[in-house]
Amino acid sequence: MYVCICHALNDKQVSQALDNGARTPASVFRHFECQVQCGKCVPTMRAMAQDHCGNHPSGLAACQGKAPAQPLPEPANADAYAYGVAAE
Ligand code: FES
Repeated sequence: MYVCICHALNDKQVSQALDNGARTPASVFRHFECQVQCGKCVPTMRAMAQDHCGNHPSGLAACQGKAPAQPLPEPANADAYAYGVAAE
């Protein structure tokens, strides 16, 4: 199933990014070296990230505290940034 039509990202690719440490839609986009365009996929990506951590075998806190395989710096206003870019 396609999650992001603008970048042709499917659910398996988004799950791969989450497995590699992405925790927000903005970090999923960074994982694939792209930026949000229309933003319609952001709520779905956010829900997938929450489900990913909620289903983590070590629990939500461990998932959120897990060091990613490749550190993905997260700006404090990641969601605002994502929507801001979409508005450009
Ligand atoms: S559907 Fe993902 S940015 Fe447009």
